[in-house]
Amino acid sequence: MNLYDLIMKRRSTRNFKDQEIPEHIIERLVDAANNAPSGGNIQPPSVILVQESDARKELAKMVGDQPWVRNAPLSMIFCIDFFRIKRWASIFDTDFKGEKAFLPFLIAYADLMCAAQNVVILAQGHGLGSVYIGTILDVIDKARQYFAIPKYVLPMMVLSIGYPKSVPKNVPKLNRKVIAHRERYKKLSDDEIKKAFEDKYGNFEDNVENYLHRTYVEAVEAEKQQKPEWADIESIKKEMKKLNIRNNAQFLFKLRYPSDEMIKLNESLIRAFKNAGFDFF
Ligand SMILES: Cc1cc2nc3c(=O)[nH]c(=O)nc-3n(C[C@H](O)[C@H](O)[C@H](O)COP(=O)(O)O)c2cc1C
Repeated sequence: MNLYDLIMKRRSTRNFKDQEIPEHIIERLVDAANNAPSGGNIQPPSVILVQESDARKELAKMVGDQPWVRNAPLSMIFCIDFFRIKRWASIFDTDFKGEKAFLPFLIAYADLMCAAQNVVILAQGHGLGSVYIGTILDVIDKARQYFAIPKYVLPMMVLSIGYPKSVPKNVPKLNRKVIAHRERYKKLSDDEIKKAFEDKYGNFEDNVENYLHRTYVEAVEAEKQQKPEWADIESIKKEMKKLNIRNNAQFLFKLRYPSDEMIKLNESLIRAFKNAGFDFF
């Protein structure tokens, strides 16, 4: 398969076979992470490989009871590792103060995602599926404690990987023309924005079940697997009714990621950063 097709066919995979990934492939996945671009080639990412059953269970629970994290034979925890860089600088009689400066942090996060996405693509090339787990950001303290992550190291992203049992067929995306601006940014009108998202999601249907199947793959997949509480489709439907959700924007920003709740999370996130020695706010 050519690279374009490989990238276009990739879908986040949440249903894994109970099949180990051979060690030589895991090593190649780590090579792919390690060979990613890195600002100044300083290479802040560290990757914790989670394969043991107990650790998989614990990680799955920690990130919000996501069954695929338990079922995946491998999860990689991508960390911004300023511990290694600070020690190196200190050994050679200089200072690295990235934990106090926002710019090195942003660059390190970009490095980390370059590394992670290299893994996603290589994994796909080996017939593996993967899914990012961003909710590790809600539990930085817990993750640092369980995985013995020292000060100046922040777990920022999980990638769960395994051989797919099934892969979602269609995941709606914006039209290419919506995201590309030729030469200068072109502001869309309200009508154009409305159409862009209608084209992406289709009409909000009265048949909520159909709607959820198209737009909330995580809940549908989770309900098929270990049925965690958050994936109870009946409760989601009730909540949608209660909040009078009439379209996808409301579904996302009133129910799944309520905007005011997101702001409230600032506090705990900043605290977790500070606990890890990161203090640029
Ligand atoms: C930053 C980030 C965080 C994500 N976190 C989660 C997560 O916690 N759980 C999950 O099941 N999927 C997660 N995903 C996967 C998205 O749900 C998925 O990429 C999206 O639905 C689009 O589907 P696709 O990857 O097949 O294109 C995350 C993806 C990204 C990029």
